[in-house]
Amino acid sequence: MSTTEDILGRTDLNDIEAILSVSNTDVNEVEHIVKNNADTIFTWDYSLARPALRRLYEKAKTGQWNGTTDLPWDTEVDLEKTITADQAVIGSGVDPKIYVGTPVEKWGDKEWMEFGVQNRRWTLSQFLHGEQGALLCTAKITETVPWYDAKLYAATQVVDEARHVEVFARYIDEKLGGSYQVNAHLRMLLDDIVNDSRWDMTYLGMQVMVEGLALAAFGFLHQLTGEPLLKQLLRYVMSDEARHVAFGVLSLKEVYDEMSDAELKERQEFAFEAAVRMRDRFLSQEVWERMGVKPRDIVPLVLVDPTRGLFQQMLFSKIVPNCKKLGLLDRNDAWLRRRFEDMNVIQFEDWESTGEEYLKFELGKDAPAPIPG
Ligand SMILES: [Fe+2]
Ligand SMILES: [Fe+2]
Repeated sequence: MSTTEDILGRTDLNDIEAILSVSNTDVNEVEHIVKNNADTIFTWDYSLARPALRRLYEKAKTGQWNGTTDLPWDTEVDLEKTITADQAVIGSGVDPKIYVGTPVEKWGDKEWMEFGVQNRRWTLSQFLHGEQGALLCTAKITETVPWYDAKLYAATQVVDEARHVEVFARYIDEKLGGSYQVNAHLRMLLDDIVNDSRWDMTYLGMQVMVEGLALAAFGFLHQLTGEPLLKQLLRYVMSDEARHVAFGVLSLKEVYDEMSDAELKERQEFAFEAAVRMRDRFLSQEVWERMGVKPRDIVPLVLVDPTRGLFQQMLFSKIVPNCKKLGLLDRNDAWLRRRFEDMNVIQFEDWESTGEEYLKFELGKDAPAPIPG
């Protein structure tokens, strides 16, 4: 039986020292090597065994777009104007009243603007690094999944992810004037996903957890930003991501329904680990550092800031229903349900799961709002 310490490397979910001790100490690193430990599987069974995956494959072929020619790259992006306008819609994403007694309390318009700019650079940089993770993971899935229909689909996703890396990298380079290295919590999660030898764990970590969170986060920024190029870029990426999450849910449902309690427990633990790593990454410790504020002074307050809380919980609005659909919430005495209760995200369990929702994200339709109503 694994303890929280075995899974997370700490006993308390909110142990600030432990969270902050995970940081990227080599920001000049260019190459990062991870062992992928997996068997490459050929299949000689080319029959159509999984029509739902084949339908998704057909959708993927007609849903392709070109990052070079389909997006209005000549849009002038005035970053400060964009941030001011976006902050007017949603605020800065933090509630200044919470930060009494810290340097943030004294911030004026100039600092809040700078915080907004840094936050935008950081957010899109982490999206970019996550997209590269997805590119590598789906290349791995193409090799490791034993099913023919899934190999075909995964191959289309490799192209989708290449396009996502391309457009985020270009947007950051041409429009944002600055970027951030990969957040260490995100990198730790990507390493664990790639490192695991079991093919379904690549799916669970990437397709269900990382991509589920990405779909919610992209939706949030897409709904909020008035910057037309970014809005369109996110809309295009979301049309692909919704398919990717569906691919994970459709594939794993079949596998997890057949698993023993002991096997499923390992998947529940992995889902919990992934959820916590992603929550930790969204504490955005690098942005506070860049603003000249000690993360140690701020992060405990961020953890209880209701403004952040709403955003963070929204990030889990796709993950929790998808975990429920896969049977991960309630097996083994509702082990994962209890963890999600501790994280305050269980309220999303009956939201629509992405197994069916992807059709609504097709280009040419109005994408569903991340927060209904
Ligand atoms: Fe992607
Ligand atoms: Fe994706």
